[in-house]
Parts: sequence; C-alpha cells; structure tokens
Amino acid sequence: MHLGFVTLACLIHLSEVFAASVPRNIAPKFSIPESEQRNWSPYSPYFPLAEYKAPPAGCEINQVNIIQRHGARFPTSGAATRIKAGLSKLQSVQNFTDPKFDFIKSFTYDLGTSDLVPFGAAQSFDAGLEVFARYSKLVSSDNLPFIRSDGSDRVVDTATNWTAGFASASRNAIQPKLDLILPQTGNDTLEDNMCPAAGESDPQVDAWLASAFPSVTAQLNAAAPGANLTDADAFNLVSLCPFMTVSKEQKSDFCTLFEGIPGSFEAFAYAGDLDKFYGTGYGQALGPVQGVGYINELLARLTNSAVNDNTQTNRTLDAAPDTFPLNKTMYADFSHDNLMVAVFSAMGLFRQSAPLSTSTPDPNRTWLTSSVVPFSARMAVERLSCAGTTKVRVLVQDQVQPLEFCGGDQDGLCALDKFVESQAYARSGGAGDFEKCLATTV
Ligand SMILES: *[C@@H]1O[C@H](CO)[C@@H](O)[C@H](O)[C@H]1NC(C)=O
Ligand SMILES: *[C@@H]1O[C@H](CO)[C@@H](O)[C@H](O)[C@H]1NC(C)=O
Ligand SMILES: *[C@@H]1O[C@H](CO)[C@@H](O)[C@H](O)[C@H]1NC(C)=O
Ligand SMILES: *[C@@H]1O[C@H](CO)[C@@H](O)[C@H](O)[C@H]1NC(C)=O
Ligand SMILES: *[C@@H]1O[C@H](CO)[C@@H](O)[C@H](O)[C@H]1NC(C)=O
Ligand SMILES: *[C@@H]1O[C@H](CO)[C@@H](O)[C@H](O)[C@H]1NC(C)=O
Ligand SMILES: *[C@@H]1O[C@H](CO)[C@@H](O)[C@H](O)[C@H]1NC(C)=O
Repeated sequence: MHLGFVTLACLIHLSEVFAASVPRNIAPKFSIPESEQRNWSPYSPYFPLAEYKAPPAGCEINQVNIIQRHGARFPTSGAATRIKAGLSKLQSVQNFTDPKFDFIKSFTYDLGTSDLVPFGAAQSFDAGLEVFARYSKLVSSDNLPFIRSDGSDRVVDTATNWTAGFASASRNAIQPKLDLILPQTGNDTLEDNMCPAAGESDPQVDAWLASAFPSVTAQLNAAAPGANLTDADAFNLVSLCPFMTVSKEQKSDFCTLFEGIPGSFEAFAYAGDLDKFYGTGYGQALGPVQGVGYINELLARLTNSAVNDNTQTNRTLDAAPDTFPLNKTMYADFSHDNLMVAVFSAMGLFRQSAPLSTSTPDPNRTWLTSSVVPFSARMAVERLSCAGTTKVRVLVQDQVQPLEFCGGDQDGLCALDKFVESQAYARSGGAGDFEKCLATTV
C-alpha cells in the first residue's frame, strides 16, 4: 500500500522520537497493488489523496474540526447474509472446471459482523497519532480536543483507538477522552438515521449490476457449473476479497480469483460509486440534507456562536457547554460513510458536472467512493488567521479542496465569512428538504 510521503516521513520521525508509540501496524501492504485496493470502493483502506501541505506563509491554524469514518470492519449482517448465500451456491458445486476455484471447496467463512477489525483499529490509532503530530500546537493538557462519536460500536472503538494513538504520540502528556456518544436512537448528527422519506440507491446499483456484471457472472458460472450465480451474487463474492483481506491482514484467495476475471474489480468499484452518490450524495434528493445538522454544528464552532439548526441536532446537547463547548481549538467527530457523503454533498465538495450514469461511467468523474469515503476517511476543516483575516481550508484525505463555492484561492483558502455565506443550504435547514424527510409517505 502506498503511504503519502508526509505520512510516512511523519511516522518514521515519530517512531524515532517515541519508539514506544509506534503503531502496531502501519497500513499493511497486503501484497496487492494500490489500484486494486482502490477498486474496493467503500472497503478500500485509507489512502491520502495528496501530501499534507502546511498553510501558506502568514497563515496560522487556530482551530481544526475533524470528522472521520470508522476504520475497516467486518461485513454488516445484511452483507454477510448475502455473501453466505453466494458462497453456498458456489460450494454446492462438486467439480469446478477451473482449478483456480478449488480453494473454495475448503474455504470457511468465519468473519464477525459489523465490528471494527484489528487493522481498522490500527488505522484509527495511526490517524490519532498523525493528528497529534500535525496539530500538536493547538492542544495542551488543559486544552484537550473535544471528541464525539456516533453510538455504533465500531465508531466508538474508532474514537477510542484514535485517542489512544493521539495520547501515545504525545507520550501520554495529552490524553483526550471520548467526551460524548450520540445514541443512534436519538437526534444524531453523526448518523443518517433521521430521514425516513429518503430514497435508496438500489435502482441505480441494480441497473449497473445488470449492465456490467453479466460477463463476470458468466465466467463464474462457467467455472462452477450448476451454481446459478446471479449478478448480485457475483458482486457479493467480489466483496470477499476486501473483507477477507482487511480481516486476516493477508491477501485473500478471492482477490487472486477475481484478478483472473478482467473488469470484475472495476465493475465492483463503480457500483460503490453509484451506491454512495445515489444513497446520500448529490444523486439523492434527500441525501445532502442529512449532512446539514453536522454543518450547522461546524459553523457554530468556526464562528464561536450558538448552534442554529432545526434538523438532526439534539438541541439540548448543543445548548450545553459540557456537551457542545465553543471556543475549542480541536474537535474530532467519528461517524460513517453515508453521513460523511451527506456532509460533503451539502457543503459542495466533489460536485459532479452531471449525475452518474448507471451504464457508462465517466472516466473523468471525481466521485470515486475510494477517494471520498474509504475506511478511515477523514475531513479536516482548518480555521486560520492570515494577516488579521479569518480563513477556512478544507482537506479530505489530506487533499486541499478547491472551495470554488466560496471563492477559494490557489491555496484553497476562503474567508470565513464567505464560507459561512456559501453554506446557505445548511443554514436554511436544508431549504425545506428536512421537512420532506419526515413527511409521511403515501
Ligand atoms: C468430479 O470429478 C471427479 C474426478 O475427475 C469424478 O470422479 C467425479 O465423478 C466428478 N463428480 C461430478 C459430480 O461430476
Ligand atoms: C480498539 O478497537 C478494538 C476493536 O477492534 C477494541 O476492541 C479496543 O478496545 C479498542 N482499543 C481502544 C484503546 O479503545
Ligand atoms: C437529547 O439529549 C438529551 C441529553 O443527553 C437526552 O436526554 C435526550 O434523550 C436527547 N434527545 C433526543 C431526541 O435525541
Ligand atoms: C441451478 O439450477 C438448476 C436448474 O434450475 C437446478 O437444478 C440446481 O439445483 C440449481 N443449483 C443451485 C446451486 O441452486
Ligand atoms: C430532535 O429533532 C427533531 C427534528 O428536528 C426535533 O423536532 C426535536 O425537537 C429534536 N429534539 C431535541 C431534543 O433536540
Ligand atoms: C477562547 O479561547 C482563547 C484561547 O484559547 C482565549 O484567549 C479566549 O479568552 C477564549 N474566549 C472565550 C470567550 O472563552
Ligand atoms: C476526460 O478528460 C480528458 C482530458 O481532459 C479529455 O481529453 C477527455 O475527452 C475526457 N473524457 C470524457 C469522456 O469526458
């Protein structure tokens, strides 16, 4: 796996200085090319999209707001059920016509469900370590980061592994704690669970599977006579490559198998692009509104003023300094891919020139799920003081975003007031969309 030079340099530097704090596991290579790992789409390990660049001369960061996806995990229970259904069809075959399939006869599916895997915990630890190295000037033992997590176990584990990495990098001088867990049953700006009327991405994903998978499916069925795999089965079987690999931390035989079926990983990746785009992204009418609550909290932090939101926020929590302190210099929130996609889309990041086609991928699209929300994805919103002017810069996987929507300059900087102005959709509570979320469907 490729590590950005800065990340690598920073980790090497840290390991020299703080031998005891070296992470257990600096992103294992898995002996799989990065291009293939990126085709794992939402199951791609974290890759920096650029080397982190310090802000331009004359600018000093005075606050950072981080939102991060949980690290690598086991399949969810729904995915596990679908994977097992495809596997059992394959394993009912007595004789494969291709010896490359023979490993399947003795293959046992033994993964857990939904939880963080050790590699995912290590990714989170590494991220905490990196944030300390990058932003240590912003914190002290009496100015700790303020940390929140969505209530699901894997996200909580991500947050606590991150704080462990952070503390370790500081040689335990600074020991942040997870300050607040937002229960998934309540108002929760770190989960996309408050918009029952929102549609799903199934129609677009299914259309793509029907268009791109038949040749993959046919090759599987040819090697496994009588298995009768469907396109959806084929898709689920491809997912065994990432899931087995990140769980066992070694290349899965399923990766080798699908490397022999040209186009299978690319077809899988684009299904993931469509899934996120039409799930809570630009392609879903009620997708972006689910990121509005988080953005309004972000605006409150950036401007040091009370939260003004009528969507997903818990107004009780956000009105209390213990649970929503203002004037902090570092905030870190832990969440999920679908929520982060909603935040990016509500904010205006990764805009596409046209909706994604369900049959003909645009090779120039910038909406790649592996770039937008890989495992352990992160956005950092930095507030800076530049010669007396307060500015904002947004980085996603360490890549400075252009912020064309608020007049971003060549360094990706917008004046804070222009950034706030640009977030009209969030400030209006989603221009009426949140009400549609709750409207009873006919
Ligand atoms: C599978 O292959 C073996 C060895 O070639 C053969 O003896 C057996 O009859 C085959 N079984 C089926 C179900 O085709
Ligand atoms: C890290 O995550 C793992 C789950 O993968 C969990 O069991 C462990 O308790 C976490 N460690 C810390 C320090 O929170
Ligand atoms: C809001 O937070 C308060 C304080 O934790 C909690 O008692 C309440 O149940 C929450 N309400 C909702 C709707 O999330
Ligand atoms: C595949 O389809 C054939 C014909 O419909 C059927 O006999 C066979 O049992 C099916 N195999 C599986 C694994 O479902
Ligand atoms: C939770 O959100 C709903 C929808 O915006 C709102 O009606 C309710 O007052 C909120 N509850 C709290 C405690 O903020
Ligand atoms: C905000 O924090 C800064 C430095 O951390 C401090 O100088 C200032 O007094 C604080 N302001 C408020 C209103 O608490
Ligand atoms: C993709 O971008 C390249 C370079 O800008 C351009 O030559 C090409 O026509 C574009 N392809 C499509 C399908 O838009």
